[in-house]
Amino acid sequence: MCGIIGFTGSGNALEVLIRGLRRLEYRGYDSAGLALLTRDGISVVKRVGSVEALEREVSSLAGTESSVGIAHTRWATHGGVTDRNAHPHTSCDGRVAIVHNGIIENHEELRAELIARGHRFTSETDSEVIAHLLEEELRARPGDPRGALTSVVRKLRGSFAFVAVSTWTGDAILAARHNSPLVVGVGKDFSIPASDVLSFLEWTDDAIFLENESCAVIRPGRVESWLFTGEELELKVTKVAIEVSEVDKRGYVHHTLKEIHDQRFTVTRTLTEELGPLGEAAKLLREARRILLVAAGTSYHAALVGRYVLAELADLDVQPVLASEYNLVSRWVNGDSVLVAISQSGETADVLEAVRDAKQKGAKVIGIVNMPGSSLERLSDVHINIRAGPEIGVAATKSFTSQVVALIRLASAVSGKEVPLDPEELGAGVEQVLEQEPQIAEIASILKDSKDVYLIGRGVHYPIALEGALKVKELAYVHAEGLPAGELKHGTLALIESGTPVIVLNPSDDTHTDTLSNCQELKARGARLIGISDRHHSVYDFFVRIPRTGSKYASVLLEVIPLQLLAYYMALERGAEIDKPRNLAKSVTVK
Ligand code: F6R
Repeated sequence: MCGIIGFTGSGNALEVLIRGLRRLEYRGYDSAGLALLTRDGISVVKRVGSVEALEREVSSLAGTESSVGIAHTRWATHGGVTDRNAHPHTSCDGRVAIVHNGIIENHEELRAELIARGHRFTSETDSEVIAHLLEEELRARPGDPRGALTSVVRKLRGSFAFVAVSTWTGDAILAARHNSPLVVGVGKDFSIPASDVLSFLEWTDDAIFLENESCAVIRPGRVESWLFTGEELELKVTKVAIEVSEVDKRGYVHHTLKEIHDQRFTVTRTLTEELGPLGEAAKLLREARRILLVAAGTSYHAALVGRYVLAELADLDVQPVLASEYNLVSRWVNGDSVLVAISQSGETADVLEAVRDAKQKGAKVIGIVNMPGSSLERLSDVHINIRAGPEIGVAATKSFTSQVVALIRLASAVSGKEVPLDPEELGAGVEQVLEQEPQIAEIASILKDSKDVYLIGRGVHYPIALEGALKVKELAYVHAEGLPAGELKHGTLALIESGTPVIVLNPSDDTHTDTLSNCQELKARGARLIGISDRHHSVYDFFVRIPRTGSKYASVLLEVIPLQLLAYYMALERGAEIDKPRNLAKSVTVK
């Protein structure tokens, strides 16, 4: 949800900013812009469109010498998608430029006050107030950037991470964060503040994760930081354990396809390698009186699977809660509760808000997260890293299967019984499913013009139906609905006509026979059935075979992969923008 980056140091700021922005584009992609501090002042280039379009535009700046700058890729919240609303935003005198991620809740009030004091605004954004406030403060105390910044952040309400350059502060980038992520990559003679570590991995793997509610003055190779309260912070440099190559497409046309294929090794990696203190997390769960699994989107679907897994394997009664709907259950959260927060990015605003609320009430938090160093990781009492590796495609794929494997391992740690998954069998199973890619692509070309697609599953397969529907919607822009197979006859069956596609998740486990009966009911009404199972049946018009494994949970992991591929190929056939679906962004850092 908006990506921000800055550069200060010896080197060409423009080049670093553009390359870094490309890595950040998955966080927002409706407009992009940058500001460079030069001998003559601040030069800003910004426009609607992709980073690629910005890159063409900044060719005019190619000769500009600058070693200090900031840049932004936008996902619009306040103000339409226009060139003027694109970041950076500048102060009236052009001596300050800022880029911001988050929402300034009191922007209307601040704007009115600033206008009354003579400021002129050029955009409709909430962010622009920061530039004007900084201008006032820096002008009032030009030798005290620290004081100026602290004074500004104390006036802001809402969530924000911002970086700023100014003609008053030379090679220093001013930065602050409150409930939005900000991390600084540091090298010997440069610093790169950014929304995430992926954007600066090319240059350094030394990162300083800024504390929440802190400000920073960032100079080449050096950072000083303090809390909004004024308290000085001691900063720690963390080595980021991600290879640059993991962030590349490695020959695939799309990140999303690469990440679907990565599941060849990610599911077994999550199954066999060290994820963190599972035993400690299991102890917390055993002792808890109330357990909530809090997540959003795909991670919420993993939480729904987790409910079955923790019930069936560990006899735990847990409640999955959509992070954005957490307020209702918040009243029952106390020192006897454990909140299991599941998030790929570890930065989803709704999840973090629930976590902060739970912690404040004395609950313990177990974070199940993919991005190392994320806010969720740092807020959790115990964190489990699912180790799916960087996920760049906006649609979550490999993180989902790894979240499910991590939950199965957690449930087994609670029960003390063996994990009901065999790494070799699972690895081979993923291969066999991926081998059917051409056949799945063919089914996709048949389904691509469908108005609606339904997906059904029973028990633990129901969340997979939901997840498949989400993939079809967000990647192919086709309406899709996931349902518990048994619910069809309570209403939705009325929508089934001759040829309506229904995808059936029906491996041969305790749900098989009942789901097969639902297939017959659908068939009798003319539905076109796509069966995903290890057991073929004549009721299916199309069939994708998943290998028989003897583990119900292996089926869950294997059956979701054909759905990811199906959505991918439907999107491809429809010419959709696969890695960056319209209107969406990865890492939803606003509420
Ligand atoms: C769907 C998707 C989103 C995310 C959701 C939560 O493919 O990617 O629904 O799952 O925004 O994100 P995280 O897991 O980062 O909290």
